[in-house]
Amino acid sequence: MKQKIILIGGGGHCKSCIDVIEQQGVYQIAGIVDLPGKLHQKILDYEIIATDDDLPDLVKEYENFLITLGQIKSPDKRIRLFKTLKESGAKLPVIISPLAYASKHAQIGDGTIIMHHALINAGAKIGSNCIINTKALIEHDAIIGDHCHIATGAIINGGTVISPRTFIGSNAMAKEYIEIGEQTVIGGG
Ligand SMILES: CC(C)(COP(=O)(O)OP(=O)(O)OC[C@H]1O[C@@H](n2cnc3c(N)ncnc32)[C@H](O)[C@@H]1OP(=O)(O)O)[C@@H](O)C(=O)NCCC(=O)NCCS
Repeated sequence: MKQKIILIGGGGHCKSCIDVIEQQGVYQIAGIVDLPGKLHQKILDYEIIATDDDLPDLVKEYENFLITLGQIKSPDKRIRLFKTLKESGAKLPVIISPLAYASKHAQIGDGTIIMHHALINAGAKIGSNCIINTKALIEHDAIIGDHCHIATGAIINGGTVISPRTFIGSNAMAKEYIEIGEQTVIGGG
């Protein structure tokens, strides 16, 4: 029987996460957490069953959680949710699309999602609570800190360090062996 998972954040990024989880086939989505005004609405086939205030109770009932809120200008809300969940003992599994490739020589932290057609090469290290979005490339020996979003089609070349809480926009390219500082926002392209 599939393990149940709760998704937190019911916006556009959540839909992409749902597709990854469905294709992966490991977890059954038990419901979504969002704002009180959206309770009982559906995101694709799944109902918004609770709000942030219900998290302590949900952690007692369910084991697995994924933060499906997007991240562009600020990582703060995703970080707050991650800390709350960790402190309550929730499990935040790594989710990897079966259409992605993650080298067995790469490391990936908990709560991170690797989306369709992303490629994580040998020696790469990716922190916790990251989004490695559709078609992103993380080259050999690159280091991605905690709470980063590497957006669709972005390229992080070999040995480059992306410091925690950073957003790298769609189709941006980071040269090899450079370091990008904490909580940076790099625009698309
Ligand atoms: C960087 C970003 C967050 C800035 O947003 P913002 O604060 O609302 O900034 P604005 O759109 O007001 O733009 C400010 C200025 O920067 C320029 N600019 C913004 N984004 C740019 C980009 N990606 N490349 C080049 N110039 C850009 C704007 O043209 C504008 O210039 P101006 O002052 O001469 O008119 C946004 O433009 C961006 O790139 N978002 C990410 C998109 C993306 O990759 N999404 C991924 C989803 S998976």
